[in-house]
Amino acid sequence: MKHFLDIHTTDAADLRSIIDTARATKEARAGQPKAVLDANLPLDGKMVALIFEKPSTRTRVSFDVGVRQMGGQTMVLSGADMQLGHGESIADTARVLSRYVDMIMIRTFEESTLLEMAEYASVPVINGLTNRTHPCQIMADILTFEEHNGPIAGKKVVWCGDGNNVAASFIHAAGQFGFDFTFAGPSDLDPESVFITEARKKGVKIEIERNAEKAVSGADLVVTDTWLSMHDSQSARERRHSMLRPYRVDRKLMSHANPDAVFMHCLPAHRGEEVTNNVMDGPQSVIFDEAENRLHAQKAIMGWCVS
Ligand code: CP
Ligand code: NVA
Repeated sequence: MKHFLDIHTTDAADLRSIIDTARATKEARAGQPKAVLDANLPLDGKMVALIFEKPSTRTRVSFDVGVRQMGGQTMVLSGADMQLGHGESIADTARVLSRYVDMIMIRTFEESTLLEMAEYASVPVINGLTNRTHPCQIMADILTFEEHNGPIAGKKVVWCGDGNNVAASFIHAAGQFGFDFTFAGPSDLDPESVFITEARKKGVKIEIERNAEKAVSGADLVVTDTWLSMHDSQSARERRHSMLRPYRVDRKLMSHANPDAVFMHCLPAHRGEEVTNNVMDGPQSVIFDEAENRLHAQKAIMGWCVS
């Protein structure tokens, strides 16, 4: 059985084939109405549970639409409304759900919840974001980069801001897809060192640079994210904002990147905080392709899980 829990724990050849399948399926569907079924239906007759313990727009809608295009059906469940949110164990929830559904996607807080779900489920489990990682997002980001700028291997990706869950999955992807990654942010918000050490062992350059302009110099992709993630306490807001202000992505910072560099943000964005409007809506921004590609990347991930 194949779970999709993280990028660094998935075989690199499988990751590559997921991206290639996503691109081919997207191209084959071009111009089709969104409710038209795909040519092949790997989820025909299958039921997929989508569990959310945190809010979501993109993950929720793209998984729901994706399952339907692949011939399956979905049920969207809020963690708070389930017995899971009232003390039933994750292990029991996983065993029960496996009797009803063919696949589980879960967005949760602690990574341990995801891992326990995967351990006890007898159907594939997909990570729809935890406090620690967001692998589906980065699969969509790789697809988006390659559509615009060709193979990502050997390219330079620069992350500006908080070394959060999305940054962590980018570091995992650097090791698996063979690109260099520079983190530009304050030392208090560095990505976990274990992620950096593991990626470096795969032979890619992972750098930490406190000067944002130096970091962005020669970048092929500049990426940022909210300064306060869903699991971060609101009380940290002011302190984070003052630490992160030098890493805001604005036009001046983007001018240090390569001329054909693209800008990404997983969204939702706080326009005027981590990024200015003129970058979000500027010629280098690919944020809405990136959001669309959640759909195509996740369909390929689900297809891989049931293959
Ligand atoms: N990027 C992302 O995961 O968006 P949602 O929180 O809306 O799902
Ligand atoms: N880092 C953000 C990503 C949201 C998609 C969060 O965890 O809230």
